[in-house]
Amino acid sequence: MNTTRVEAFQAKIFDFYEKSRRSFPWRSTNDRYAVMVSEVMLQQTQADRVAPRFVRWLERFPDPRSLASASLREVLEEWSGLGYNARGQRLHRAASMIVEQHGGRVPADPAQLIELPGIGAYTSRSILVFADNLDIAAVDTNIRRVLIYELNLPESITPKALLDVAGEVLPKGRSRDWHNALMDYGAMELTGRKTGIAPLTRQSSFKGSRRWYRGALLRELLTSGELSRESVEERYAECPHGIASIVDSLVMESMIEEYGENRMLRIAGESGRGG
Ligand code: ADE
Repeated sequence: MNTTRVEAFQAKIFDFYEKSRRSFPWRSTNDRYAVMVSEVMLQQTQADRVAPRFVRWLERFPDPRSLASASLREVLEEWSGLGYNARGQRLHRAASMIVEQHGGRVPADPAQLIELPGIGAYTSRSILVFADNLDIAAVDTNIRRVLIYELNLPESITPKALLDVAGEVLPKGRSRDWHNALMDYGAMELTGRKTGIAPLTRQSSFKGSRRWYRGALLRELLTSGELSRESVEERYAECPHGIASIVDSLVMESMIEEYGENRMLRIAGESGRGG
């Protein structure tokens, strides 16, 4: 891409950022674990809602070791309200892997990060962009929209090709600021509504969805401690997805466990907890 055009694009984005940058608690740390927590929380939850929960999370689980040694129940309780409980569970498992395989330090290599549960192509890069100011590109929904619109790229561009373009326009040495600036520009100035550029994946409507029933059941188990499979099947008889199959998947994912002759259900890892 021609240099003049790249420089004009960078100037436009940084000008906006100088005047209108947002302040978030994860922007004032370069602790890789803290940034990892923020990026996982931000995967599907709005930044303004994440901010206070991020601060509280770090008070309770300040490092990978404290998170790894917590029970799944404690983690899910602290996650509650952030949506997608499976993300909280994956973060918990990632912390255990970090303790067991990386000496308690979040790895500084995207190839190792992507091996951790809940860390995908985008997050494995964004953690190192924001924590280490690493000169690599990370493209989320907002950044994708900004690049497509401002650089006149076809909406059909493949993720791989877009990542190459993102790498070409990245101002070396300013990766952290650049990515924050692109995100702010996308969230505040160049919204999806303004461009008509659709995100690649759309969240399916939530109420009554499979995920909604999973959340409802997990919340009940967090409150009650344990429930029999029979009572769950009675209580959720109206579930259009079949509550039995939802229970089965939660058991398979080690979110909950089934035990005893009358098939009691509880949050996984609770065997030592009275009951
Ligand atoms: N979404 C994902 N990462 C973000 C960040 N660092 N700032 C704001 N929104 C985000």
